[in-house]
Amino acid sequence: MTSSAPTPDPLPRGGWPGAETPGDAPWWTRSVVYQVYPRSFQDTDGDGIGDLPGITRRLDHLERLGVDVVWLSPVYRSPQADNGYDISDYEDVDPLFGSLADLDALIEGLHARGMKLVMDLVVNHTSDEHPWFVESRSSAQSPRRDWYWWRPAREGMEPGAPGAEPTNWRSFFGGSAWRFDEASGEYYLHLFDTKQPDLNWENPDVREAVYAMMRRWLDRGVDGFRMDVINLISKDVAPDGSLPDGEVHWGTYGDGSPHYTDGPRVHEFLAEMHREVFAPYLARGREILTVGETPGVTVEHGVRYTDPDRREVDMVFQFEHMGIDHGATRYDPVRWDLADLKATLGRWQAGLAHRGWNALYWDNHDQPRVVSRFGDDSPEHRVASAKALALLLHLHRGTPYVYQGEELAMTNAPFTRIEQYQDVESLGYFRELTGRTGAPRLRTDGEMLAVLAHASRDHARTPVQWDASANAGFTTGTPWLEVNPNHTTINAEAAWADEDSVLHFYRRLVALRREEPVVALGDFRMLLPDHEAVYAFTRALDAPGPDGTTVRDELLVLVNVGGVPQDVPAGTLTGWEEASVLVTTHPGRADDGTRPGAVGHLEPWEGRALRRTGPRPARPSA
Ligand code: NOJ
Repeated sequence: MTSSAPTPDPLPRGGWPGAETPGDAPWWTRSVVYQVYPRSFQDTDGDGIGDLPGITRRLDHLERLGVDVVWLSPVYRSPQADNGYDISDYEDVDPLFGSLADLDALIEGLHARGMKLVMDLVVNHTSDEHPWFVESRSSAQSPRRDWYWWRPAREGMEPGAPGAEPTNWRSFFGGSAWRFDEASGEYYLHLFDTKQPDLNWENPDVREAVYAMMRRWLDRGVDGFRMDVINLISKDVAPDGSLPDGEVHWGTYGDGSPHYTDGPRVHEFLAEMHREVFAPYLARGREILTVGETPGVTVEHGVRYTDPDRREVDMVFQFEHMGIDHGATRYDPVRWDLADLKATLGRWQAGLAHRGWNALYWDNHDQPRVVSRFGDDSPEHRVASAKALALLLHLHRGTPYVYQGEELAMTNAPFTRIEQYQDVESLGYFRELTGRTGAPRLRTDGEMLAVLAHASRDHARTPVQWDASANAGFTTGTPWLEVNPNHTTINAEAAWADEDSVLHFYRRLVALRREEPVVALGDFRMLLPDHEAVYAFTRALDAPGPDGTTVRDELLVLVNVGGVPQDVPAGTLTGWEEASVLVTTHPGRADDGTRPGAVGHLEPWEGRALRRTGPRPARPSA
C-alpha cells in the first residue's frame, strides 16, 4: 500500500490559463449541469411519456437544487427508434413532447431563474425518415446521395448475401453496421440502429446544413449543445472511397471503432464548427456551453478537443471510468476495483490539468444507476454510498453533470422479464447473444437477463420518482417504462423534507462549486493510488490575497468507498491535523472528523473534505 503525503510545492497551483483571478475563468468552470431525459421526467397530458410542459412544471426542483444549466436530451421530431436520438426534423419539436411554443416557454422559465438550456445535437446520424435520407435513398443519382455513406457490396460477393457488407463493422446496437437497400443495390452505414444512418461529414454541404441549423437554435435562445458521439463524425476513408475492416474480437463482426473514433478530420470539423457557428455569438458576449460526447476518446485527443486555444469544444465526456466494470460491451460484465477507478479518473485529471477541461459524471441516460453500480443500494448503505460517490466526483476538477434522479439516489429497476425492457440496445444484444438473429448463441436467456439487470440503459430511464403516490407522480396514465416500486420511499417529496437526504447533500455540493474557487479551479493530486477502499486526493488553488500576497487554499478529500470502516494511513494526514471540515457525508456523527486526532477515521461510505488555508510557500532561493 502506498502512503503518499502531499509534498510542499513552491509552484503556483490551480487556476485557469491566463486568468488573473478565479472570477476570470469561464463561467462553466463553476457550474453544475443537470440532465433531463424528457421521456421520463414529468408527464402532463396523461400519455405516460414525459413532456416539455412537465419540465417547466418542475423548474422549482431544479432551481432549489441550484444547478446552472439544463441539458435536455432530444425533443426533436423523431420516429423514436432510439428515444429521440433518431431525428427526422431538426427544426421542430416532436408532438410527443409538446410544441415549439412549449420549448420557448421552457427556455423563458429557465432564463427567468438564471439557468441555461443546452440542447442535444445529434449529427453523426439522422433518422432514416429525415427528408435528407429519404432523398438520398431515392436513387443512386440523387443530389443528396453523398450526404450519407453508401457503398457497394464487398468485391466479388452477391449484394445482400451474408458477409457481403462493405466492411465487417459491428453496429453499437448489435449486428452489422451496414444495411442493404434492395432498391439501389447498395448498403448504407449506420453505426447505431438501422434507422440511424450516418451523415457524411466529408461533404461540405452536410456541414453547412448542420451549422445553419445550430445557428437557428442559438437565435431561438438556447445556450449551447451537448454533441452526441461527436468524435465519431470523421471516418477513415481511403482516397478510393473504401473503408477498412476491423479486428474480430468476438462473434461474427469486427470492431470498426479505430476507423471512426477521433478520426482524421474530426478536429478540423470541430474547429470549423466553432468558427462558423459559435465564434460570432461569443464575440457578442453570449454565454455558450459546448460539451462533446466522445466514446473511446484518449486523453491526448481529450486535450486537443478542449484546449481553449484550439477552439473546438469546452469539455468532453470521456468513457474510461464507465468501462471498468465490463469488457468490450456493457453486456460482458467484469469485476472492478477501486484502484482502476482511481487510475482512470486520475489520468484524466492529470492529462487535462493545464490545458482542457473534464466533464464529470456518474449517471446519464445510457448508464445504470451509480448507487447500484459503484455504490451499495441496500437499505443500509444506499444513502451513505450515494453521498460518498457524489462527494468524490463533485470535488474533482471539471464540470459535474447530475442526471435526473441521481440526486434522489434512484436505484436500478428490479426487472426480471425481457418484456419489461424497452431499450433498443438492450433488446438488440439480447437477441444477438441468445442466438435469435442467426449469430452463434453465446448466452442463455437467464444469463442475459442477469446481465441486463445490472447493465441495461433502461435503469436510467425509469420515470423520475417525485412522490409516493401511484406512478410516483410522474403520470396519471400508464408509464412508458415501469416505475420503480421503491418510489414509495425513494422520492423527491420525501427527500426535500429530510435535511439529511442525498438531495440536500447534492444541493450543498452544487453550492460549493459556485462559492469556493478551490472546488472549481484547484489543481488535483491523487493520493493512495493502490488503497483498495479509501479514495483520497488534494485540491489546491493559489489566488491573490490581501496586499499583493498569494494565498494557497487546499482541500484534502477522503472517501471510504465501501462498507468496512477505514483508518486513513497516517502519512496522508500530516499537516492536516488542525484542518477544518468543509463538507462531510455524516454531519453530526459524534466522531465525524472534527474531533482533534480523528480526521482519518471513516465509517462505512463516509467521506469528508478538509480545508486548510495559508500563504503560498515561498519559492526556494537559488
Ligand atoms: C449516444 C446517446 O447518448 C445514446 O443514447 C444514443 O443511443 C447514441 N448516442 C446514438 O445516438
